[in-house]
Amino acid sequence: MSKIVVVNGPNLNLLGKREPEIYGTRSLADLNDMLRARAAELRVQVSLFQSNSEGEIIDFLQKEAPGSAGVIINPGAFSHYSLALYDCLQALALPVVEVHLSNIHAREKFRSKSVTARAARGVITGLGFDGYKLALEYLTEQGGKH
Ligand code: DQA
Repeated sequence: MSKIVVVNGPNLNLLGKREPEIYGTRSLADLNDMLRARAAELRVQVSLFQSNSEGEIIDFLQKEAPGSAGVIINPGAFSHYSLALYDCLQALALPVVEVHLSNIHAREKFRSKSVTARAARGVITGLGFDGYKLALEYLTEQGGKH
């Protein structure tokens, strides 16, 4: 069964409590439940991870992503400045879908630039939890072709 790696970056552990008018009222556990359920329907395995630490995310991706069918990542604020995460994603040489819950182009100017997006095959921004679901469907459909 192919595996898809899903990573959420800093402050996404606070989903549901953090600025609910922007990020919604559902929690990270709700997001993970939704992804597990959709993955079961699609017959793929998901490996779910959240960290507030850049180094932990990079360590996790280096260990977990090789051999997977692809990566779904919401790098949170790391999107806007982490060249280390960009290098990591680039080195994986896997299809990456970057997801943002909010539309980063419709908010503060500093959010509209994502340095990590350059390493992504595509970016889904502003569709809330549906963005992750669409990314999962896309990577499943790709089926490890890359
Ligand atoms: C976010 C957008 C980022 O600008 C922000 O720093 C986040 C969440 C989103 O999902 O909309 O932490 O990635």
